[in-house]
Amino acid sequence: MKFFIDTANLDQIKEAQDLGVLDGVTTNPSLMAKEGISGKENILQHYKDICEIVDGDVSAEVIATDFDTMVKEGEELAALHDQIIVKIPMIKDGIKAIKYFSDKGIKTNCTLVFSAGQALLAAKAGATYVSPFIGRLDDISSDGLSLISEIRLIYDNYGFATEILAASVRHTMHVIDCAKIGADVMTGPLSSIEGLLKHPLTDIGLEKFLADYKKTNG
Ligand code: E4P
Repeated sequence: MKFFIDTANLDQIKEAQDLGVLDGVTTNPSLMAKEGISGKENILQHYKDICEIVDGDVSAEVIATDFDTMVKEGEELAALHDQIIVKIPMIKDGIKAIKYFSDKGIKTNCTLVFSAGQALLAAKAGATYVSPFIGRLDDISSDGLSLISEIRLIYDNYGFATEILAASVRHTMHVIDCAKIGADVMTGPLSSIEGLLKHPLTDIGLEKFLADYKKTNG
């Protein structure tokens, strides 16, 4: 399972990269705004800065919603760095754009996916990644993890190469459950990755080992 971090914060990306288990980064316009990144030049530079830190795929989202402008924006993003994945929303023109990029060998991430039907379309269009937003489904009393299971079944039935990128992961149990179901990738906050480290018996055990060592070695 690949681990992506879902942030545009360079310090957090560095911290996750230093841990040695990071496979990529996902961003979106809200995450960029949260870091105060605005203006085309600054936004493009920020994507390049992220690519310099992380050794893996970096999703950069188009803002346009019509095919022609999506293609223009996506080509500009893809030309920034070979790690860039063009993130495209699940709308009609988005599917056309994913097909266009797929035919040109440019990698894409189909975002804002909330149903198995949408995921099927994204795979048919040749998306590299499909991003079902599990946390946002949970937020409205729907079952995000069931959606991952449905997509896994459909993709396995037909051998689609599109990778299931479980997005809107909110906490560590989401990560573990997605791993059990067979999501190819998860993207979440640093806390959802660091939470995997924690167990009280590890802390108690380590304390005892160190105390016993100290008793005999001073
Ligand atoms: C996915 O790529 C999105 O950036 C993200 O996972 C959305 O998460 P949120 O629902 O926590 O905003």
